[in-house]
Amino acid sequence: PKKKTILDINKKHSAGDKMVMITAHDYPSAKAANQNTVDIVLVGDSLAMTILGYENTLELKLDEMIHHSKAVSRALSIPYLVSDLTFGSYNKSNDIAIDSAIRMHSEGHADCVKLEGGNPFICDRVRHIIGCGGVSVCGHIGLTPQSSSSLGGFRVQGKSLSAATSLIEQALNLELAGCSLIVLEAMPEFLAAGITKLLNVPTFGIGAGRFTSGQIAVSPDIANFSNLPNLPKFVNNYENLGSRLSDAIEKFSSDVTQGSYPHQTKHVYNVDPRIKDEIRS
Ligand code: KIV
Ligand code: NA
Repeated sequence: PKKKTILDINKKHSAGDKMVMITAHDYPSAKAANQNTVDIVLVGDSLAMTILGYENTLELKLDEMIHHSKAVSRALSIPYLVSDLTFGSYNKSNDIAIDSAIRMHSEGHADCVKLEGGNPFICDRVRHIIGCGGVSVCGHIGLTPQSSSSLGGFRVQGKSLSAATSLIEQALNLELAGCSLIVLEAMPEFLAAGITKLLNVPTFGIGAGRFTSGQIAVSPDIANFSNLPNLPKFVNNYENLGSRLSDAIEKFSSDVTQGSYPHQTKHVYNVDPRIKDEIRS
């Protein structure tokens, strides 16, 4: 199969086919995600907690994200690639946002960049990035981890009438600003379904119920790779890669200490017996 473009995503959306987006942060996980069942790979700034051990996404720098976006891009030949812009790399001004988006596209090889939020400032950043030409933008509303401090923590959004109305407005404004797709995170199913109906562009839900155009999940979360405490309610567990790797390391340690590794024939390089004699003498 050939590399998917935004046209393939739009075609699938028009046909009403459920779409799949998965977060991958490095070469091996991107290789695992490089399959035709995956429409979009996201290099998310969830990188900060899952792979780099930060407390949250705030300290992560654009250079770090570009480093990982490059690695992911080297493994991808099928899915469309979206990469997050980091906190502070687009907030302050349109010019800064444009520079960051261009770097993520040209250096990080992302087909599309993702920004969090949908207020008039963010919509203006989206318009400017798209206006420059060449870079597509993905929106992200609801629980936006980069603003968890002002949201009062990692909590479900859009539960009151005014909060729900605001999210609907944000979604419509992001589409108007030119976003090609929009992530809806941690909001009531009814609201995400309504937003999806109102929009022309596809929505990708995480903790947003069944009726978005597609679903997005964080691969280290669904495979329990990082052993993070308190994963949210919406995370479905498919594997325990973290403890599987621990087990492998434990077995290696025990083989080494008990002398059963390296094995005298399987893991050892031999030389011609004549050379052996010469070395000895
Ligand atoms: O960083 C990330 O992986 C994300 C998804 C959870 C949407 O932004
Ligand atoms: Na993110």
